Amino acid sequence: MGNTLYKLHLARIVPVLCLVTSVTWAADPPKPATAMAAPASAAPMTAIEYPDWLFPLIPKELPAPPPAKPAADKADAPKPEEELLDIPGSTEKFPLSRINDAFNPPDWRPASHGPMPDVVAKGRKPDVMACAFCHTPTGQGRPENSALAGLPAAYIKQQLLDYRSGRRKGVGPDTYLPVQNMLKIAKAMTDKEIDESAEYFSQQKLKRRVYVIESLRIPRAEPAAWIYYEHGGTEDLGDRMLEVTQDLTRHERRDDRLEYLAYVPPGAINRGKRMVLGGEGKTVACTQCHLANLKGTDQIPPIAGRSPTYLLRQMLAFRNGDRVNEHSAQMNPVVEKLTMADMIDIVAYVSSQYP
Ligand code: HEC
Ligand code: HEC
Repeated sequence: MGNTLYKLHLARIVPVLCLVTSVTWAADPPKPATAMAAPASAAPMTAIEYPDWLFPLIPKELPAPPPAKPAADKADAPKPEEELLDIPGSTEKFPLSRINDAFNPPDWRPASHGPMPDVVAKGRKPDVMACAFCHTPTGQGRPENSALAGLPAAYIKQQLLDYRSGRRKGVGPDTYLPVQNMLKIAKAMTDKEIDESAEYFSQQKLKRRVYVIESLRIPRAEPAAWIYYEHGGTEDLGDRMLEVTQDLTRHERRDDRLEYLAYVPPGAINRGKRMVLGGEGKTVACTQCHLANLKGTDQIPPIAGRSPTYLLRQMLAFRNGDRVNEHSAQMNPVVEKLTMADMIDIVAYVSSQYP
């Protein structure tokens, strides 16, 4: 990692101001969170628009190639052998058709997890795509979806029930298919599939996958495959937070050990840290409920080290009333007064912590 950044620094002359590798260890053993009843808000919170840059859409397709001539004479000919592809650190090999098979996605590291329930490994046609297709077999997730590894089972179940009933709406434009597909999947899931997948993912362990970098200028980031990848040249980051991959091939092959970079404005991590630990008059200290190391409880989800793209989308979802259930009211006083810039600072700090 250090190496890659060093190269990046030299080759592209990017002012990488700070690579966060520090860990904040909890000084005290975590106290159980006291369930706080949220004060009933007099006025509904004003919504903050979901910014376009938070939902990198796949660029419009290039013009389709001319249709191949109907090859009647070739009907009996054997299919050409598909090239087998690999990723670093795995001895498995899969053809592209398998890598993109939503009902039998690749399992690059079968030794890294116990037996997957059917719904996780294969899903159920036509509407329940395999969870592993997007969230990866161990639930590490990717910037365009969510890490499920180590979330409390009760929490996972509740979220799936909420998607199914429509109480949790999903975020972003209708054209952002990862979210639309998640909603479709949950609506088709049986109670048994919900229980089995929740149990399985709650037992997995989240690895560190994201490194946060404060910077004014960043390598030019282009959307592809629902996320950003680094392209030649540089651009201003401005008031955004962009999570990018430096290796689009590994991302597209669904490598669950691939690490991502998140670019945030200078000073974001420290400003975020003050709000996360102390509230700063703008929010409620996250540590009150998500505990000192932000690893959550058996009811409240862990947030440390998770994708800042996902965290930011969810902060906005709470603020905008797109996630409402018996527990979500606790997040109302947290997001009520935050600006978009505050939320970016907060997720910069939270995602820089070890999961
Ligand atoms: C097509 C990709 C895709 C597939 C397949 C998929 N998900 Fe998701 N999942 C997503 C996305 C995107 C989100 C974030 C949606 C949002 O904005 O709320 C998500 C969110 C979730 C969440 C909420 C996580 C949280 O922290 O609150 C759970 C739980 C979940 N998925 C479970 C599953 C299960 C179980 C399966 C398999 C039956 C599955 N997903 C299959 C894309 C997918
Ligand atoms: C009063 C308790 C409380 C405080 C304080 C609090 N949270 Fe939460 N948070 C919750 C609860 C409860 C949930 C689960 C809501 C649900 O079940 O839908 C949650 C969920 C979340 C989620 C969604 C996670 C996911 O997997 O989708 C994020 C992100 C989050 N909190 C971030 C924060 C941040 C950042 C702070 C501090 C700025 C914070 N929270 C402060 C109680 C709290």
